Amino acid sequence: MVWSPPVVILNFKTYREATGIGAERLAYVAETVSRELGVNVAVAVQSTDVYRISSRYEVIVLAQHVDHHREGSWTGHVTALALREAGAAGSLVNHSERRLGISEIAGAVEALREQGLVSVVCADTPSVAKAVAALGPDYVAIEPPELIGTGISVSKAKPEVVTESISTIRSLGLEVPVICGAGISSPEDVARAIELGTVGVLISSAFVKAKDPQSFLTSVCEAALNSFGRRRS
Ligand code: G3P
Repeated sequence: MVWSPPVVILNFKTYREATGIGAERLAYVAETVSRELGVNVAVAVQSTDVYRISSRYEVIVLAQHVDHHREGSWTGHVTALALREAGAAGSLVNHSERRLGISEIAGAVEALREQGLVSVVCADTPSVAKAVAALGPDYVAIEPPELIGTGISVSKAKPEVVTESISTIRSLGLEVPVICGAGISSPEDVARAIELGTVGVLISSAFVKAKDPQSFLTSVCEAALNSFGRRRS
């Protein structure tokens, strides 16, 4: 399943400001802006916050990680079934801060599909993007790890990583939508990401640490909508 573009995914990571009650505060912002502008905004929260957020806010809730294990005796693992029961719409898979092996990624994508959940599989290079795209995820998210958390955006500093990822995936005849992230911190960064051919962005620190998360998110969603509109026309 895919959401109508543009898509803005806010990764809450394990930031204190985005944990527990902080996650609620930021999810409320995401819900408000998403509703006002009609943009699909998703929040990727810690698994302990999935139910808390999904049961109280009308926003797309993703987990930050899912294991490939199914039901059974897998102490400490996070299953797709448990995420669905908690109200998640899907999960990030293989984020740079929670890497998996290729067979684990394949298993996680399949486990999410079995539960009717969306998979957003992260890749750090175009060749990894190609490999994971072949597993049939709903989205591929390209994020060069060296730019994560720097405020230097992938769309401006390393646009070729994004365009190569898209072209290498298309060379396989695959239409899987591509998102990019790492360092995205302004409306211009978002507009540029969409001009490069993505359907959206992944943003973390610039949103979580913003003095005014609502005005920041409003500005990036407006930029995403405008840029996507220009690309279509
Ligand atoms: O998943 C998004 C993330 O890794 C990017 O982080 O802080 O550079 O927006 P940040």
